[in-house]
Amino acid sequence: MSSSLKIAIAGLGTVGVGVIKLFQQQKELLYARTGCAVEITAVSARTQKDRGVSLNGMKWYDDAVEMAKTADADVIIELIGGSTGVAKNVCEAAIDAGRHVVTANKALMAVHGNELALKAEKASVALSYEAAVAGGIPIIKSMREGLIGNKISNVYGILNGTCNYILTMMRETGREFDDVLKEAQELGYAESDPSFDIDGIDAAHKIALLASLAFGCPVNFKSVSIEGVRRISQLDIEYAEELGYRIKLLGIARKDDNGVQQRVHLCMVPKELPIANVDGVLNAVVTEGDFVGRTVLEGRGAGESPTASAVVADVMDIVAGKHLPVFGIPAKEMEALPSIGMDEYEGSYYVRLIVKDERGVIASIATALSDENVSVKTLLQRQSASKAPVPVIMVLHKAKEVSVKQALAKIEELDAIVEPPYMIRIKSF
Ligand code: HSE
Repeated sequence: MSSSLKIAIAGLGTVGVGVIKLFQQQKELLYARTGCAVEITAVSARTQKDRGVSLNGMKWYDDAVEMAKTADADVIIELIGGSTGVAKNVCEAAIDAGRHVVTANKALMAVHGNELALKAEKASVALSYEAAVAGGIPIIKSMREGLIGNKISNVYGILNGTCNYILTMMRETGREFDDVLKEAQELGYAESDPSFDIDGIDAAHKIALLASLAFGCPVNFKSVSIEGVRRISQLDIEYAEELGYRIKLLGIARKDDNGVQQRVHLCMVPKELPIANVDGVLNAVVTEGDFVGRTVLEGRGAGESPTASAVVADVMDIVAGKHLPVFGIPAKEMEALPSIGMDEYEGSYYVRLIVKDERGVIASIATALSDENVSVKTLLQRQSASKAPVPVIMVLHKAKEVSVKQALAKIEELDAIVEPPYMIRIKSF
């Protein structure tokens, strides 16, 4: 049986253009698979210019909210970005007008996803966001449908391509963070203001959405503990290799009887783990379910074509009449779960200290650690040719995070310490 679906696109940046290209290039394929002819009837962007795709037959709107309210469209695709302002207004206007919404906006969904989900479910329209998490990887569909029969206890992964690219290039080329970041910006991976990427906020938006889907609780972005990658140095990358680890920025969410812990931070993971070998701009998401066990999805987490692929998959679900609850269970039935903070965390740690090469320094460091019941598993110190400060690298046995932080605060006070201690958690999964 053949049918048709009309869509309107708000935002014609990289992803918007990618969505138009995909619908134009895969028209026959999509029709063959669904029996539905998808027509883009309207578009909106800040400026009218040549974007390398034909907009013939599409009505132009300067005002995206007006388009969401009045366009001849069943589905509004929001590709503007940002957690507030026009993007939010577009989604709300579309839902109010009884239209389905597809968005790639992780910030909006992480910050306002609960209220938008309630609104969409009340209006019986879809609010779909596959492209918001890990670009082209179909992780939302996988968790909401493929893993529906599982209780998920853990979800984690490499959720930011920019950071993964920087860490990979530092390892492969021996260059320093600032240098590789500049290259990532020139290549268009990182924004000109890259703070959302390198301060871990982008990954935090994504892990907050995955936690809600995994554990059936409202999105709780405010409770994500977030650390970025700005302090990583080439030294850490080299010592990680020597110790048998790779350094990755991970988003991690886990649930136990006490509640939910959500966090984004650098991890040293054993080199032989699959996630340690996901390099460059690739993303990967690992889920652990009680019946299925561990699943791993890997793919391109950003960019025109992968993100367009995810947006189009959401549209085709609407064609198929799928209106699943936004976060897996109806928003009005979701119950908040207690948040477990990082002070509750226990694990093993890598620590980098830069110290004056003086007698008694190691003894003072050992005392500070032992006072907090923290013990050292490995200690590496290279001989210095001059009297310049030297790195002291330690791997700590499993310890409470609060104890490690207290010990490092004491170590920082020592006269021989020339810069604040730097710590990376070691995670074997
Ligand atoms: N800036 C993001 C990344 C793009 O680097 O992964 C997709 O969210």
